[in-house]
Amino acid sequence: MPSLQEQIQIHEQEIKAFNPASPADLENYRIRFLGAKGIVKELGGEIKNVPAEQRKEAGQLLNAFKKLAEDTYQSYKDQQQQSTNKGPAVDITLPGTPLPIGTRHPLRIVENQIVGIFEKIGFSVATGPEIEDDWHNFTSLNMPQHHPARDMQDTFYVSQNPDWVLRTHTSSTQARILETQPLPVRVICPGRVYRNETISARAHCFFHQCEGLYVDKDVSFADLKQTLYYFVTEMFGEETKVRFRPSYFPFTEPSAEMDISCTVCGGKGCNLCKHTGWVEILGCGMVHPNMLRNFNIDSEVYTGFAFGMGVERITQIKFQVNDLRLYSQNDVRFLRQFQGL
Ligand code: DAH
Repeated sequence: MPSLQEQIQIHEQEIKAFNPASPADLENYRIRFLGAKGIVKELGGEIKNVPAEQRKEAGQLLNAFKKLAEDTYQSYKDQQQQSTNKGPAVDITLPGTPLPIGTRHPLRIVENQIVGIFEKIGFSVATGPEIEDDWHNFTSLNMPQHHPARDMQDTFYVSQNPDWVLRTHTSSTQARILETQPLPVRVICPGRVYRNETISARAHCFFHQCEGLYVDKDVSFADLKQTLYYFVTEMFGEETKVRFRPSYFPFTEPSAEMDISCTVCGGKGCNLCKHTGWVEILGCGMVHPNMLRNFNIDSEVYTGFAFGMGVERITQIKFQVNDLRLYSQNDVRFLRQFQGL
């Protein structure tokens, strides 16, 4: 009968030569070497027959043998695991699944452009709440209760509090700025506004405006004209002409409406300009002294200009959108036309 050491040597060689052809082979190996009645157990049982002075060395050999048997099993097991995890090979040269890219809404594109143009000359952005109180939307803007100008801006009222309205214009943000900010102020205020209108191609119960306000010492109507002229050339191109027509707004004096030469026909006459050669784009004026007084600003020392434009209007002119309803219908065929802008 070979000694324990000799038996270990023989089995070691067998293990080193082992290379399973199938999972069943590996399972047989496990049972043969590592099973409850396997070789490792069996040889372990023989250690007691080894003479005492060789027992320590035989124990070390036995431990090394056991480790070899276990490691060999584990490494083949891992290999098998990996090959079953592997799916079919991936062809990384195939085109990927395309993810459709969304688009910015045209109104947002134009609003960003308007804001960007004014930011370049030192205006900062301010926003205000869409649910406003009577004071900020009307009264402080020199439009007291029963003022006829309120007629043109019928809106939605909040039944919980009759003093609250959905703001009819972004001019309410002017009021909030003058109330809270130290002078001088130079702000551009974009936002959504509401009016009680029957929905059609030309009117909607909500739309968007962009308001501007500049209050400082020595601000004049010339500053207003030059600022708006700069805006028009940036927005519509160098060749665009502007004209101012006298108008009326309760919160400005004098007030004007500004037209630009028609960007579609260049002034010859077309549908957009209703054959006049001009399209109206905004209202403006010098801030009314009453309004400054409402916010404890000395109108002898400070003057300012303000203007307000409809974002839908500017977008209509820029992109020839003829029906206001398109903006809120969420029709992707409409929205996709603005991809990449
Ligand atoms: N708030 C006016 C409107 O909704 C537009 C407007 C006109 C705003 C003149 C202004 C302004 O700031 O000075 O019709």
